[in-house]
Amino acid sequence: MIACYPGTFDPITIGHCDIIIRAAKKFDKVVVLIMQNPKKHCMFTPEERKQMIEESISGYHLDNVEVMIGSGLTVKYAKKIGADALIRGIRAVSDYEYELQQATANLHLEEDIETLFFIAKPEYSFISSSTIKEIAANDGDVSGYVPEVIRKRLMEAVKK
Ligand code: COA
Repeated sequence: MIACYPGTFDPITIGHCDIIIRAAKKFDKVVVLIMQNPKKHCMFTPEERKQMIEESISGYHLDNVEVMIGSGLTVKYAKKIGADALIRGIRAVSDYEYELQQATANLHLEEDIETLFFIAKPEYSFISSSTIKEIAANDGDVSGYVPEVIRKRLMEAVKK
């Protein structure tokens, strides 16, 4: 079974890494798919985000994980690459309504592709990419929320 984990990943956090590691144990292959959310202005380009994800997970020797940059509709792209399922992380009840709406629309667009949810570990449930960017922009310490390679890239980016 091939799972596709779509998101903006601007940047990847340890919460995302945890979902990738857990998903890699359950599926034959996991494609981490960088997509565009039209409502978001990103700090990093898709190519930078791809490199950052690859560097973040390189130490875990996840041979069945690949990072790709997609375009168009997520579920159509997932179908094109042979995925059986989309996976998403849920951190809190507040994520649920949005995720339910997305999953229902995606099911309507491609009824063969199911959306499966991974529940975030409590210690990661408050982490989001925007929160981390805000902390970094105000000179706060983001170690513990993002892999070390990302912390360095983030601090360089906010100084510019
Ligand atoms: N750990 C840490 N953070 C997590 C998380 C976890 N386990 N789970 C969710 N998040 C956070 C992310 O950090 C992100 O934070 P931010 O809003 O501060 O950036 C937020 O939750 C959700 O973002 P993300 O998972 O990146 O998804 P998204 O909502 O930005 O984008 C897409 C979702 C890209 C998959 C969606 O917009 C998409 O499919 N776009 C393509 C067009 C399309 O097909 N639209 C759907 C039509 S129905």
